Amino acid sequence: MTENKLLEIKIEKVVNGGYGLGKIDGLVHLIPFAFPGDVVLIAPIQKQKNLVWAEIKSIIKESPYRKAKLCPQMGNCGACMWGMLDYHKQIELKKQLIEENIERSLKGKKVNVEIIYDENNQYHYRTRVIYHGDGKNLGFFKFHTKQIVDVSQCVITNKEIETIRRKLTQNNIHKDICITINPDTNKYMLYPPYINKYMFNDSNNHQIKIMDNYEDYFLYENVPIVNGCFSQNSLILNKILKNEVKKIIKNDQKILDLYCGSGNFTIDLDKERYVVGIDIDPIAIKRAKEFTTFKYQVGDENEMRKYLMNENWDTVLLDPPRTGAKKLIPYLKEAKSKKIIYISCETVNMCRDIKELSQKGWTIEKVIGVDMFPHTPHIESIVILKR
Ligand SMILES: C[S@@+](CC[C@H](N)C(=O)[O-])C[C@H]1O[C@@H](n2cnc3c(N)ncnc32)[C@H](O)[C@@H]1O
Repeated sequence: MTENKLLEIKIEKVVNGGYGLGKIDGLVHLIPFAFPGDVVLIAPIQKQKNLVWAEIKSIIKESPYRKAKLCPQMGNCGACMWGMLDYHKQIELKKQLIEENIERSLKGKKVNVEIIYDENNQYHYRTRVIYHGDGKNLGFFKFHTKQIVDVSQCVITNKEIETIRRKLTQNNIHKDICITINPDTNKYMLYPPYINKYMFNDSNNHQIKIMDNYEDYFLYENVPIVNGCFSQNSLILNKILKNEVKKIIKNDQKILDLYCGSGNFTIDLDKERYVVGIDIDPIAIKRAKEFTTFKYQVGDENEMRKYLMNENWDTVLLDPPRTGAKKLIPYLKEAKSKKIIYISCETVNMCRDIKELSQKGWTIEKVIGVDMFPHTPHIESIVILKR
């Protein structure tokens, strides 16, 4: 856009992605780092068919839900878009967003979403972090750019992970890296393992050996957390998610765990049950199999299909990647199961899939949101479907 005129706008609500929404002459404007009740001066950045993307230039009147920045990069860093918003308001907005998305997808179906959160672990909760490096800096991207911001005062990252990041930069390592930590023992894993020649001291000045093999792992609450494989971004908040899932499947004897990773939801269930887990990642499956007699196996949606069609289940549990389970839906529609538990951190794609399932008679029994991502607009949903 060429216009650089500043416009005044009042933020009415937030929408998917966490953007503040306001209207000028009926035209929707979407603005990052803007919250309901804010009156702000904005500069339009890009006009699309029915909306304008804009950025805040100054705040005229603050939303009553705004709070002081806990990290100087808030409002700049892409990692915590809602860091300046009161935590209880974040929870309320996340609830609203899930409810609105479901209502939109299911032709006005009203659901009451229960949100579960742990206020005491809203800071330094991330036990897995992917940093970006540009040869000079190692950190998170500035919002919607590839510019790296200083993350040394990050309030969502585990403090020992920050120690490691700092040591890496002191050793001139500024390449993309994923750091995973066991919050109980402080064992670290780095991926990819290109820094194996370094040893570091932790914040108590104890020497840490960096665990750097591709297939390295540590056990956390009986689940192998495997280097280079998926693990939840917070092993601490993951306990709440697992606890909710466990309550739902308490009496189920036959469970099909799709997109099971290294067995996060089922590996430690009592051995009398019949559990089949399927995931495409051979290393995650290999490690999972070392710790259970359950039938975990490598496979994609074709393999999942066989189990969905050929056996009867008490529960089919799925936790697909952010893109959702589009390929699986035709088979899932026909699943021989008493219920489906759909777990996802991507509400929009999840609702697209649930809409498809609803056309074959699967209806929502309950929706729970678990706040695995405080200070961001993201939320993990658990949807229980029956027919
Ligand atoms: C969101 S993670 C969930 C993993 C596990 N349930 C957990 O909680 O740790 C999604 C998983 O889907 C797996 N995956 C991605 N695409 C797949 C596919 N086409 N077929 C099977 N698994 C797939 C990934 O390897 C990853 O483990």
